[in-house]
Amino acid sequence: MNPKRLLIPFLVFTTGLLVLVVTAGLLLFPSGSQQSAGKVPIGGPFTLTSHAGKPFTEENLMGRPFVVFFGFTHCPEVCPTTLYDLTQDMAALGKDAEKLQAAFITVDPERDTPELMKTYLSSFDPRIVGLTGTEEEIAAAARAYKIYYRKVPTDGGYTMDHSATLFLMDSKGEFYGTSNFQEPEETRRAKLRQLVKNG
Ligand code: NI
Repeated sequence: MNPKRLLIPFLVFTTGLLVLVVTAGLLLFPSGSQQSAGKVPIGGPFTLTSHAGKPFTEENLMGRPFVVFFGFTHCPEVCPTTLYDLTQDMAALGKDAEKLQAAFITVDPERDTPELMKTYLSSFDPRIVGLTGTEEEIAAAARAYKIYYRKVPTDGGYTMDHSATLFLMDSKGEFYGTSNFQEPEETRRAKLRQLVKNG
């Protein structure tokens, strides 16, 4: 038989075999969301001061899953809404919320002293820790979480533009997912339950 006649069936066979092996490999070893989520470069070390006036770093949050949100106490709408929602979520999560920690990092350290943050946060879930620091410390934390913030002058003062992402982080401090105040309550709570369960 002409060897060239065997070449095409051979190629079809080997290609088919290759497709089969790759498919089986993908089925057996799927690159699950948790595996890829751990590789997202969001989060990391920071050195800040808690609303109790004590030093506070990312190490204080390790060991249990946590939520991080950047904002400022003079925020007219987004921050109080988010903190109110988070407070309601933690109540709705019941016992599960005991494993969850939450940090509210100010992007306005000029006005947000530990004392002011303490007073402001007394309206929300007591498990939410307020964090402030020097301009440089806040900038470093914002860089770690890749959030945007900017000072905007207003009549006789200023306000802050800022990202309103709620970061969901696992117990090792690795990125788990995001949420925000515009997301439906049920979706957000399902994500928080998942974080507590798997994070
Ligand atoms: Ni805000």
